Amino acid sequence: MAERNTNTWLDTPDPQVFIKNSAKFNDLMMMYRCTVREVRTKLEVLNDEFSLEYKRNPISFIKTRIKKPESIYKKLKKLGYEFTAENIQNQLNDVAGIRVVCAFIDDIYTIADLITRQDDITVIQVKDYIKNPKPNGYRSYHMIVEIPVFFSKGKIPMRAEIQIRTNGMDFWATLEHQLRYKQNIEEMDGYEDVSNELLNCARAVIDMDNEMQRIKNKIGQFHDI
Ligand code: GTP
Ligand code: MG
Repeated sequence: MAERNTNTWLDTPDPQVFIKNSAKFNDLMMMYRCTVREVRTKLEVLNDEFSLEYKRNPISFIKTRIKKPESIYKKLKKLGYEFTAENIQNQLNDVAGIRVVCAFIDDIYTIADLITRQDDITVIQVKDYIKNPKPNGYRSYHMIVEIPVFFSKGKIPMRAEIQIRTNGMDFWATLEHQLRYKQNIEEMDGYEDVSNELLNCARAVIDMDNEMQRIKNKIGQFHDI
């Protein structure tokens, strides 16, 4: 008879195996919480330094989250992988999530550039949904990064997803997420209208972001005189 695969976390009737696996899962989640802290600190350091030099904060606020066990399980399943520590670490890039909300569009690129230039950070992937917005109007600058985190067992390279956006982009994305994901609006009558209306709101936010950037550039010119 084939031996039971004890690497898989689910469907294990043996309490000892379950306890061992849940300890492993908790350990991994602790590692992701530490990753989020490391990345947050790097961002806060940049913001502090910038605010002293330029008398303003490029970062309005930072939000962090660790992907919930249920979402981790669902995403691995969707990708065709079993729910194991190895698969979580190797197949998922967004267990540790950091959202950076900036004042102006150019602050986004400044922060992204400063993060990229830190030599302990490896940028694995960039998706610029600001230069190339999603068809629904979603905009943000996404980075998948890998950073070394030091634990007693040694240095572990950990991945995190950083989303950088303006207050306007965050305002739109937060409301759109609530409407789209929580209420299954795809199935409702008149969904196309709602979609178009959301796209129009996204356009209004783009105009506002661009206008604020233009005003900032104008004030910047006065400062230089
Ligand atoms: P996920 O499986 O959702 O992680 O997508 P992905 O691996 O293709 O990555 P992508 O960079 O496109 O999106 C990752 C994250 O960006 C999502 O989990 C959301 O937080 C955010 N996001 C992407 N598209 C949208 C959108 O249309 N609306 C909103 N509100 N958020 C979005
Ligand atoms: Mg995601």
